[in-house]
Amino acid sequence: MNPINALEVKGLNKVYPGKVTTRALTDIHLSIESGEFVGIMGPSGSGKTTLLNMVSTIDKPTSGEVNVNGCNPYLLNKEELAHFRRRQLGFIFQDFNLLETLTVAENIVLPLTLDNPKLAKMESLLQKVAERLNITDILNKRTYEISGGQRQCTAIARAIITSPAIILADEPTGSLDSNSSRVVMKSLEDINRKEGTTLLLVTHDPLSASYCKRIIFIKDGKLATEIYRGDNRQIFFQKIINTLSFWGGNSHELSSIRV
Ligand SMILES: Nc1ncnc2c1ncn2[C@@H]1O[C@H](COP(=O)(O)OP(=O)(O)OP(=O)(O)O)[C@@H](O)[C@H]1O
Ligand SMILES: [Mg+2]
Repeated sequence: MNPINALEVKGLNKVYPGKVTTRALTDIHLSIESGEFVGIMGPSGSGKTTLLNMVSTIDKPTSGEVNVNGCNPYLLNKEELAHFRRRQLGFIFQDFNLLETLTVAENIVLPLTLDNPKLAKMESLLQKVAERLNITDILNKRTYEISGGQRQCTAIARAIITSPAIILADEPTGSLDSNSSRVVMKSLEDINRKEGTTLLLVTHDPLSASYCKRIIFIKDGKLATEIYRGDNRQIFFQKIINTLSFWGGNSHELSSIRV
């Protein structure tokens, strides 16, 4: 028997009704194996966030099927869905979504506290993810006392502490300079390699994208093409730039000296 895919999307369509009807996604088919690190790229308005929102159950597909770890979240009742989202999904946002009144440590363990775990268990999980993200030294700081890169590492620690089946990230380096982006992407790469965490990440930034193992390009709500990384990240970076310029991305905004 095949192992269950972390994500399986079949015939997914999304139409936003309204004064002007927008067809945001058309017949998307997508399989992501457990342990993959997949990027999604495409021009502004191509449907990247919509796709992520269908997977994360933030919004509902017009038709089609979504399975996360073998479970179709759209068949669950409200209570089961809340449980599913807590257990199976991890979220990372462009603007971090941390609570300013809490410390770094408190932010990270927040998703655990909903399940009333033992304190010792919580503490050991906290230490483990903090070490993985290299933020052990800042655990007692407030989120306004740390850098943007450290904030995103805190948010990543919060996303992985529950060991979700898949982590969804929409522009996780969108608010960061290139050095912090690199730190964040290296951390995600490290988590993927060492913990086998499945990652699905939307980005405009070819440098960030070059840390993924596979990149799916969408255009006008349809899958356009996909490319695989292989061994060399620099070569992959160039391949991403070439693919973006072919499919009409934003490669003109880039300088090629950032690798
Ligand atoms: N809530 C909504 N209601 C109506 N139309 C929407 C809604 N959300 C997105 N759209 C439309 O759906 C299409 C896809 O939008 P989406 O946000 O998925 O694009 P994106 O690829 O994430 O773009 P960006 O790179 O700018 O973030 C766009 O035409 C957008 O205007
Ligand atoms: Mg978007």
